Amino acid sequence: MKTKTQVWIEICRLEDIPPQGARVIRATLGCVALFRTATDKVFALEDRCPHKGGPLSQGIVHETGVTCPMHNWVIDLETGRAKAPDEGRVRTFPVEVRDGTVLIDRALLA
Ligand code: FES
Repeated sequence: MKTKTQVWIEICRLEDIPPQGARVIRATLGCVALFRTATDKVFALEDRCPHKGGPLSQGIVHETGVTCPMHNWVIDLETGRAKAPDEGRVRTFPVEVRDGTVLIDRALLA
């Protein structure tokens, strides 16, 4: 079976994403939010809350979670899962930070 080769492309500098904030990019599948934690980890998630579609990029980032601005569900940035007692999941995407540059899989923008 043929496996897809991941091709990384530069999307922005780490400092282009506010600490404990987010930046949104438009991908083929919709808006993707790039979140930056206080420890400069970066995560890429679909910018659509699994509850009622709220913009997660407008939420509050704390440790490795984001609180949705609409009804305060907490979404785990690593897994995309809503924290209990809430249930649901948002898509997550591969992202890397190399030498202060944020890279995503080119397939997201193809
Ligand atoms: S839309 Fe996100 S908590 Fe309701």
